[in-house]
Amino acid sequence: MIAGVIREATAEAIAEAARLVREGKPVAFPTETVYGLGADAFNERAVAKIFEVKRRPFFDPLIVHLSSEGELPRVAKEVPPKARRLAAAFWPGPLTMVLPKRPELPAIVTAGLETVAVRVPDHPAALALLFACETPIAAPSANRFGRASPTRAEHVLSQLGEDVELILDGGPCRVGVESTVVSLVQNPPAVLRLGGTPVEEITRIVGEVAVAPSLGGRAPLSPGQLPKHYAPRTPLRLLLGRAAPANVKRAGLITLLPPPDAQRFERVEVLSPSGDLRAAAANFFAAMHRLDEAGLEVIYARLLPEEGLGRAVNDRLRRAARH
Ligand code: TXA
Ligand code: MG
Repeated sequence: MIAGVIREATAEAIAEAARLVREGKPVAFPTETVYGLGADAFNERAVAKIFEVKRRPFFDPLIVHLSSEGELPRVAKEVPPKARRLAAAFWPGPLTMVLPKRPELPAIVTAGLETVAVRVPDHPAALALLFACETPIAAPSANRFGRASPTRAEHVLSQLGEDVELILDGGPCRVGVESTVVSLVQNPPAVLRLGGTPVEEITRIVGEVAVAPSLGGRAPLSPGQLPKHYAPRTPLRLLLGRAAPANVKRAGLITLLPPPDAQRFERVEVLSPSGDLRAAAANFFAAMHRLDEAGLEVIYARLLPEEGLGRAVNDRLRRAARH
């Protein structure tokens, strides 16, 4: 058992984190989307530790983080023109692209797939870490498998603190939901996971894209997009329309706007009083963590408008409500 520590992401702490990464030890670090649990993508044993710490199944591939687009040839075999356009438009930022993989990249990173998921994160501490360790970093979100993602250093500490030596603290994550994952190995490109870059913006750059059904009966295209995911320990139920919960004593509510029926709930988390969907996404996981700690019997959720980042939040609410 390791007693994990949170350290503010100063130049010194980042240098220490880079040393740990080079030594093959997992390190938690902030990105603009959520906190990641990182390891040297070319060190198989280090990557294996990430799966162990997260209790993540080996069939679920990781995202490789790069310091810049110029690093792409280290992990990707080809970069089609549409990928170049997306990189120019959104990197650094919350967009992950699935591209043909270079054979040198260990199979454990990509769960044996011939493709690799890559992105350049838009956070000064993440970029400084990537520059300092001079290697691509494979990093999933720094939560236990299936649970709500961390958007604060303390969320990482409470879930993984016993297994990670160092958690770099870069403050609350600006975007708050994971990156959008888009596959460029098919045409039209396919959005495999809704996330921090709205589909509407991707369409503006590359035209038509396919969007994987939010919750279908079929096997997911992206192995990590399991029906049940992002779940708090407290049961979560969607409240559709104006329906009010019956006979529940200790209920919480997560909702975009201040609700007219607030008195029915013991705790209410309003994601954005002004109805701003970006702000709502940024607050989303922290609100889920707070409700989960409140000792409630059930958490109710009202869906957001199905547009922009509202779509990404709704996708996570639907998966969290699966049981
Ligand atoms: O915002 C983010 O993307 C965060 C931060 C830390 O960068 N990372 C993140 O990683 O969310 P993770 O491991 O929680 O989610 C990675 C997703 C999974 O749904 C996985 O199945 C998918 O990306 N993925 C990874 N490689 C893939 C591949 N080669 N083909 C299809 N999907 C892939
Ligand atoms: Mg995750």
